[in-house]
Amino acid sequence: MTGIDLCNRLLFNASMVQALTVALASGSYPIHFYGGETTGIPGALAELDRQGRLSVVLTDEGVVRAQPGFLAANFDRRPRLVLPAGEKSKSLETFGRVHDFLAANKLTRQGVLWIVGGGVTGDLGGFAAATYQRGIEYVQVPTTLLAMVDSSVGGKTGINLSAGKNLVGAFHHPRAVHIATDFLRTLPPREFAAGLAEVIKYGLLGDAALFARLEKTPVGAASAELGEIIRRCCELKAAIVQADEHETAAEGGRALLNLGHTFGHAIEQVTGYTAYLHGEAVAIGLAGAARLSQKLGLIPAADAVRVEQVLAASHLPGRLRGPLPVAELQAATTRDKKNRADGVRFVVLNSLGAAATRAGIPPATVEAVWRELGAV
Ligand SMILES: NC(=O)c1ccc[n+]([C@@H]2O[C@H](COP(=O)([O-])OP(=O)(O)OC[C@H]3O[C@@H](n4cnc5c(N)ncnc54)[C@H](O)[C@@H]3O)[C@@H](O)[C@H]2O)c1
Repeated sequence: MTGIDLCNRLLFNASMVQALTVALASGSYPIHFYGGETTGIPGALAELDRQGRLSVVLTDEGVVRAQPGFLAANFDRRPRLVLPAGEKSKSLETFGRVHDFLAANKLTRQGVLWIVGGGVTGDLGGFAAATYQRGIEYVQVPTTLLAMVDSSVGGKTGINLSAGKNLVGAFHHPRAVHIATDFLRTLPPREFAAGLAEVIKYGLLGDAALFARLEKTPVGAASAELGEIIRRCCELKAAIVQADEHETAAEGGRALLNLGHTFGHAIEQVTGYTAYLHGEAVAIGLAGAARLSQKLGLIPAADAVRVEQVLAASHLPGRLRGPLPVAELQAATTRDKKNRADGVRFVVLNSLGAAATRAGIPPATVEAVWRELGAV
């Protein structure tokens, strides 16, 4: 080993935090964490090369603009498909483009799709990987906070239809997840805040200490504890996914990850996925879930106020920015794909740090929450 090799190896080890394993009945995969510019990605690619397996890259225009150096350093001249940035890419049309790209590069079932991007690229690319030649392996390299703490872990992949969000998809777990927090340095503040909504969600649904920590000091892109918080969210998600991989638990389980999302998805749908980022809609949904829990007598009014204060400190909305028709929001809520035969299922808070699923909530109670959130 040369001096330079040794130096690189030391630098690499210093920037790496121990990997986390998502242990599933269907197979396990690692989540690697990196604090600096150096990652294990080139090594992982080299290993696939040695096995004669072709790696291709899926990313979006926003990542290419913000992170040209990272892409060049890690993926060199590997075949690359660059998608338009934004939720509109989670469409049937773009899904077909990804398949065409894989086929044009003659990917066999041994090929690997590397997905470098946020939740949109991850959900779309994961679904393309689930379906191309009946399933190939893919690796998630999340570049937004939301994707790091949520969408890159858990194997839910999919696209939207005009009838609703994530209506077509598959459970297909990645081969590995590589989380490099360095990416967050270029993430626009509004996107960073949107990711914080999911972080707050994890505190509320399963970790009172995490929520208290967020309450004490709002987290920013430069916060020293950001890496640790991202890892904690991944631990919480991994534990829930391990216990209920395909969301079949009668109560609780993976559905708890939907905290704030029944309200949030309705807001996204009624506003045509344009006015609010996903995380912003979820933030209003978290405020809604807290108000609903209060109305059901599960938490005191003061706790609902605490939720709104954390959202505000994180530069997130706790109410609609402008009035929306309550009838449309209610109708969208009843179309949520998490619903079962017994009606709309909400995730409610038993305390700030413990959530539960609840069906049979009177529509009038939900409507009252919508009105408090600013619907008319
Ligand atoms: N599969 C799941 O379990 C799951 C969970 C939560 C959310 N989601 C999905 O995730 C999607 C939202 O993901 P998102 O918030 O990451 O949005 P996104 O993928 O659209 O990314 C947000 C924007 O940031 C840009 N960007 C990405 N990384 C950047 C970087 N490092 N620097 C500068 N710009 C960067 C992108 O180009 C894009 O414009 C939604 O479709 C949602 O349904 C899925």
